[in-house]
Amino acid sequence: MSVTDTRPVAPPGVRAHTVGRAEDVPPGEGRAFVAGGVQVAVFRLRDGSLHATQAACPHAGGPLADGQTDPDVLVCPLHLHGFRWRDGSSTGDAGPLTVYPVREVDGLLVVDA
Ligand code: FES
Repeated sequence: MSVTDTRPVAPPGVRAHTVGRAEDVPPGEGRAFVAGGVQVAVFRLRDGSLHATQAACPHAGGPLADGQTDPDVLVCPLHLHGFRWRDGSSTGDAGPLTVYPVREVDGLLVVDA
């Protein structure tokens, strides 16, 4: 019997990395992980959606996993710059944030980085 894997495949040059278990990131919170040598922050919003960004804020290296979230924006805890989930762009004058695809597969968190 053959089984077809229908999970999305990362684009060339990007690899899928399992970074932790789904329950490691409770609703409304973020956690820092390493995905293939890249430090990332993974968030689960209160609506259950997952997002992943670089772990260090592009402004001055703040710990983004400790930031505040809403459905559209992540706010860094150090100087309160905001970054849009959709593309990592700043809501102010901070540099853009790198965002990564993230998904839950069989109870595990998978980040493409
Ligand atoms: S370090 Fe994130 S806003 Fe300054």
